[in-house]
Amino acid sequence: MRRFARVKRGGQFSENHCQFTQRKGNRMASESNLNAGIEDGVRRRDFINIAAVSFAGVGAATVVLPLVNQMNPSADVLALSSTEIDISAIQSGQAIKTSWRKQPVFVRNLTPVEIAEAKKVPLSDLRDPQTLDERTKPGKENWLITLGVCTHLGCVPLGAAEGEPRGDYGGYFCPCHGSHYDTAARIRKGPAPKNLFVPPYEFNSDTVVTIG
Ligand code: FES
Repeated sequence: MRRFARVKRGGQFSENHCQFTQRKGNRMASESNLNAGIEDGVRRRDFINIAAVSFAGVGAATVVLPLVNQMNPSADVLALSSTEIDISAIQSGQAIKTSWRKQPVFVRNLTPVEIAEAKKVPLSDLRDPQTLDERTKPGKENWLITLGVCTHLGCVPLGAAEGEPRGDYGGYFCPCHGSHYDTAARIRKGPAPKNLFVPPYEFNSDTVVTIG
């Protein structure tokens, strides 16, 4: 009896176990289906998100491209990017004012004395150390071409036109706050931090220069 009972209990257990296993199997199956559904949902949602982002990217590119095209310089602006200057009329000791990209440019024909003045200055005396050679073209050290824009706050210094004050160092003088530039247009006194900027330029011939 005890054994039967055990068997019976065992049978019940086996039956319950089967039912439990079946229920567990069903639950796992439904969980699996649920997970599959969730994963499927996630994947679907991810796909929708990726697709949305992709379309947003395409949309942005579609909007940006015309903007970029709009920002490209027009033909007249490109024409302003370089300036050709005839320097044949500038005598030794004279300077002219011209412009490049709507900024003033000084072109000075240095005298031998002004060249010597620039060359004798030790670089250690300079706030923005540069030799005259570094600021002119080889073999054409008498031609000093710089922007006419003070490196302090952007005023146009004096000294290019006849009779204008050239400051304590014989180059250019900015009266806005008192910056003095030497004969190589290097800052020597006053608040300006840098030398007058030398723009990119090339000699097309002995008398024609292209700036830009
Ligand atoms: S802008 Fe030239 S010294 Fe201030």
